[in-house]
This record gives sequence, structure tokens and C-alpha cells, in this order.
Amino acid sequence: MSTAPTAMVPVCPAAELALNEPRQVETPWGLVALVRTGTGIYAVADRCSHDDVELSDGFVDGDTVECPAHFSQFCLRTGAALTMPAVEPVETWTVAVIDGVIHLGSRQ
Ligand code: FES
Repeated sequence: MSTAPTAMVPVCPAAELALNEPRQVETPWGLVALVRTGTGIYAVADRCSHDDVELSDGFVDGDTVECPAHFSQFCLRTGAALTMPAVEPVETWTVAVIDGVIHLGSRQ
């Protein structure tokens, strides 16, 4: 039985998330990488789908994050793996800023 919440969950003050500098946060769904780009704030699973590497240590380019291990790029909007060697997507969450705090909600 899943214990994941169905409501939006607060995870981080928005002011603490710098542009293009991923930040790892603990959530009820596990570790999530938050990323602020020029187009918005995104949340993806903080584990590359190729191997057990944290994407919060990766590099942001536009609306993508690049894994620091083997340089697969993932779309921050959809979680899709855009370049090899990763082929599977990473999970993403809905993001909302409420009263200056970043909240996540499950897409499921
Ligand atoms: S661990 Fe991320 S591309 Fe290999």
C-alpha cells in the first residue's frame, strides 16, 4: 500500500533555490532534485535512470539536466531521457510556489 501523499507537499523555500543550481530535497516520494531554470522550477527524481547517481550533482543547460556520471541529458519538463546511455525517463512532480514555499504534488 502506497503512503505517498495526494496533496501538495512543502519541500523548500523558493528563495533558497538558485538559478541553474540543482538542490536535493527529501520528500515522501524519496530524494528529489529541484531545479530553477529561466522558464520555471522543476522537480525530477534525484537518481539517474541509468545508474545510482544523483542528478542534483549534474549540470543544467536550458530545461535539461545532465547526469554527472555518463552525461545523459534529461528533460526537466517531462523526465524523458534525451541522450544515451540512459533510455528510461526519470519521475517528475508537479511544482507550485505557495506563499514563497515550493510544493510538490505527484503526477499520478
Ligand atoms: S549514471 Fe547517469 S548516465 Fe550513467
